Amino acid sequence: MCGIVGYVGGREAAGVILDGLSRLEYRGYDSAGLVVSDLDPSRRAARSAHALQVVKRAGKLAALRAAMAETTFVGGLGLGHTRWATHGRPNDVNAHPHLSEDGRLAVIHNGIIENYVELRERLAAAGHTFLSETDTEVLVHLVEESYAAQAAAGAEPDLARAVREALGHVDGAYALVVAHADHEVLVAARHTSPLVIGLGQGENYLASDVPALLPYTREVIYLLDGDVAELRRDRVRVTGLDGAQRARPVDTVEWDAEAAEKGGYEHYMLKEIYEQPTVLQNTLGGRLARSGTDVELDLGLDPRSVERVVITAAGTAAYAGEVGAALLTRLARLPAHVEVASEFRYGEPVVDERTLCVVVSQSGETIDTLEALREAKRRGARTLAVLNVKGSSISREADDVLYIHAGPEIGVASTKAYTGMLAAFALLAVWFGRARGTLADDEAAALVHGLRELPNQVASALKRRDEVAAVAEAIKGARSALYLGRGVNLPTALEGALKLKEISYVHAEAYPTGEMKHGPIALIDAAMPVVVVATASTLLDKTLSNVQEVRARDGLVVAVADEDDARVAAVAQHVLRVPRTLEALSPIVAVVPLQLLAYEVANRLGRDVDQPRNLAKSVTVE
Ligand code: AGP
Repeated sequence: MCGIVGYVGGREAAGVILDGLSRLEYRGYDSAGLVVSDLDPSRRAARSAHALQVVKRAGKLAALRAAMAETTFVGGLGLGHTRWATHGRPNDVNAHPHLSEDGRLAVIHNGIIENYVELRERLAAAGHTFLSETDTEVLVHLVEESYAAQAAAGAEPDLARAVREALGHVDGAYALVVAHADHEVLVAARHTSPLVIGLGQGENYLASDVPALLPYTREVIYLLDGDVAELRRDRVRVTGLDGAQRARPVDTVEWDAEAAEKGGYEHYMLKEIYEQPTVLQNTLGGRLARSGTDVELDLGLDPRSVERVVITAAGTAAYAGEVGAALLTRLARLPAHVEVASEFRYGEPVVDERTLCVVVSQSGETIDTLEALREAKRRGARTLAVLNVKGSSISREADDVLYIHAGPEIGVASTKAYTGMLAAFALLAVWFGRARGTLADDEAAALVHGLRELPNQVASALKRRDEVAAVAEAIKGARSALYLGRGVNLPTALEGALKLKEISYVHAEAYPTGEMKHGPIALIDAAMPVVVVATASTLLDKTLSNVQEVRARDGLVVAVADEDDARVAAVAQHVLRVPRTLEALSPIVAVVPLQLLAYEVANRLGRDVDQPRNLAKSVTVE
């Protein structure tokens, strides 16, 4: 996934673009670049052949800023890009923008051009010179080819038409922006990868995501697949690839710019961990009926029409789905299971009109999950998205959406979105259970009461950061860790292990606690921490026996346990305490110390917590 920013108006474009890119760096940070066009006629006339001023650098945005400090770009039109490499190493040449040979046309792109090899061969055979290893560069030469053909035919070249014609040759996912030295317009197009227009007074903006727009405008237009937009200072026009005008609604963004900032925390990730009580209030808000025994969800779905549930997602969202499957099975007696999206979409899934396919995603742009959604719809399934980002691709294609209202999640490692997803699944399980008659009043009342208590309980768990930090100090030198959990907390172990891996680069794997003795126990020694979720459960006795098996082999045990539990402390060297709640809701509190543990270990190892190596916030390429 990459970050895209565009601007046309009376400000100096370079400053607007650098500011916007800094708010999108979470989308990828292998390299960055920008191009500025001077709209002032007198200055343009005096400028050299390269009327487009361009700079691009490998590395994070800081490298681009340093390069910009050595030069002065003047002009009110520009575009900028921060990259997560798909084709071509992260270096200056492969960084976007990519320019035409005469230096007058520039393109930036997020996505993958699936047929770029054949296009590149045809264009090279026609005399085009390629400088980079990227798929994106074919777009420059396709637009250049169409633009030149218009000029050769004696027409006044139309840049938007050249882009539309170029895209007629393209297969794949794209969000792209094109600028030409001779035109006071940005031309943008999207297919699968997101693009949002920001509307100003005498100026207009473009970005991959809302945070880049918030300092300037809240009025936005979410482009849809097949849209081609022309942005000028004073107007925006959206057409299809056929050139026919398309009407697009103007939305008002509810977030404020501050919400997308760090709020005084050292890292976005830490801020978002501590936002979880608020997120849970937002997820639950207005959905717990005053009766105290019911849940109110604004879904077009008839719960009694569903015979089975297939949940599909990626990464952390898939682990949230695992908790959701356990809750739907136990509370609503609905057969439910998870298939990771990258498998589901190619696995000939058995789904039909009696199946509810639940797609889970923070960004709403993960390509595997989006394509899994499309595959489920092709096979007749009803679809529901458990989702954070409004206006995202998945939000527009699912039949129903259950928003988690977590606000912008900037840290690459997902935290608040995960607990928001869990709360959403708990609501969904109660909603189905009540509709299917599998949850009696007293059970439902206990669950609704438990849900109401969660924000305060998570806030209480967050007060124990010092205890977690002490454990992090004890295990930070480990080369590997084993995470164990049972039932609804097996996903908690999976998520805890992923958190540690993705931000500290310490290997970790998760197992069902009962499976440890079938092989992984061979790994146990004093050097490998074993993190066990041991909160209240009907199976706690068995978990304690497993902990004893680890201790008998000199294993180091870190247990997550209820605040008032004395038994776990008797067998584990370290205990991370959480408030006691219903077993069904315990994953929401039990994950909190594991999020903090991963954060504290990564910080002690000097890792880049918000932008871990090789990762991106949402993977919009396959
Ligand atoms: C989460 O910490 C990871 N960064 C990653 O697994 C993420 O959950 C996954 O890529 C899915 O993203 P999504 O929720 O935006 O679809």
